[in-house]
Amino acid sequence: MTQQRRYFDNAATSFPKPPAVHLAMLRYARTIGASAGRGAYREALAAEDIIRQTRRGLAELLNIPDPENVIMTFNCTDGLSLAIKGLLTEPASHVITTRMDHNSVLRPLGALREQLDIEISYLAADGQGLTDPEDLRRSIGPRTRLIVVVHGSNVCGSLQDIAAMGAIAREHQIPFVVDAAQTVGHLPLDMQELPVDVLAFPGHKALLGPLGTGALYIRSGMETRIRPLKEGGTGSRSEIPLQPEMMPDRFESGSHNLIGIAGLLAGLTYLRRRGLAAIRARETELINIFLEQTADVAGLTVYGPRRPAERVGVFSVSIAGYEPAELAAILEDRFGLLTRPGLHCAPFAHETLGTLGRGGTVRFSFGCFLSEDDVVFAAEALRQIAAGRAAP
Ligand SMILES: Cc1ncc(COP(=O)(O)O)c(C=O)c1O
Repeated sequence: MTQQRRYFDNAATSFPKPPAVHLAMLRYARTIGASAGRGAYREALAAEDIIRQTRRGLAELLNIPDPENVIMTFNCTDGLSLAIKGLLTEPASHVITTRMDHNSVLRPLGALREQLDIEISYLAADGQGLTDPEDLRRSIGPRTRLIVVVHGSNVCGSLQDIAAMGAIAREHQIPFVVDAAQTVGHLPLDMQELPVDVLAFPGHKALLGPLGTGALYIRSGMETRIRPLKEGGTGSRSEIPLQPEMMPDRFESGSHNLIGIAGLLAGLTYLRRRGLAAIRARETELINIFLEQTADVAGLTVYGPRRPAERVGVFSVSIAGYEPAELAAILEDRFGLLTRPGLHCAPFAHETLGTLGRGGTVRFSFGCFLSEDDVVFAAEALRQIAAGRAAP
């Protein structure tokens, strides 16, 4: 009998996608095929309508007042680079981020340090990967021009208090950018309630779209403070030599990934039918099961907060005596469990957790198609490996 394969790498990209996502992509490829905003024939208008509906769907999901403030990107990294490099243009300015942030934030900041001599403060996190918003207040100085924070850690699932941090940023009138790669689609987020100026997120993770999709929400009024990173064709105002100022064209140059956006729209429709509150409640149940079932296993460490309200379903684990790559290989070969070993593009997070020196951890990341049986099976596999029964 072939072994069942169970996908636990949803923090990288979600799998499976709902069948409606495949069908929408196929329908676009077979019957539409046109680029958006580039023609007035029926198919070009249908393509434009797919983008319009996707923008509207994202705006409704996140309670964004104006869908035109949602920019389509190719992934979360793409949106973060635009926000960070577009906002931090002044030499020698100061920026604050956290030690839980991903290379999609750390590396653009590193590049700006070289190019513009910016100064970077990294807020420390505790042993569970949680930062203290009051540290943010203490780090703000006269040259602070940007605060950029990851919402949910892609290493250990910890959730930063973006409401408190955003309130502090707003008090000081400093733009507040949030990397929501691991939270959009996992839990409800309300952009009219949260003091967030720019929210970057992928379309291919919990929003269930295909790879090559993402979006950036830019709060109204903030768009003029962000310098576009690309200029080019928008299908609008073709007579002028400069990039149009209006949203979303200001930040959307070149042809869209329409086949991907068609899939993303179907993913969004699926999610909205299930409801984010219900998805979060289900994920919380699975988080509790995983935490309970792995709590008493000798030799096994599960990193990150133990309180479900402080985390998403992204778990880093290690077992004494096993290298991360070796453990991931056993999990796949013996148990059909697909996980990710290593540093997960967040080296400072591993320094915080004390796992940098041993090459990181093995990550289990949950998605909305995971069952209770999958989670119990994963916990039991870890128990058996830790007890030495599944050693190679
Ligand atoms: C916290 C975090 N930020 C940013 C990214 C980058 O996302 P993308 O792969 O869509 O560029 C990831 C992806 O793993 C992530 O986990």
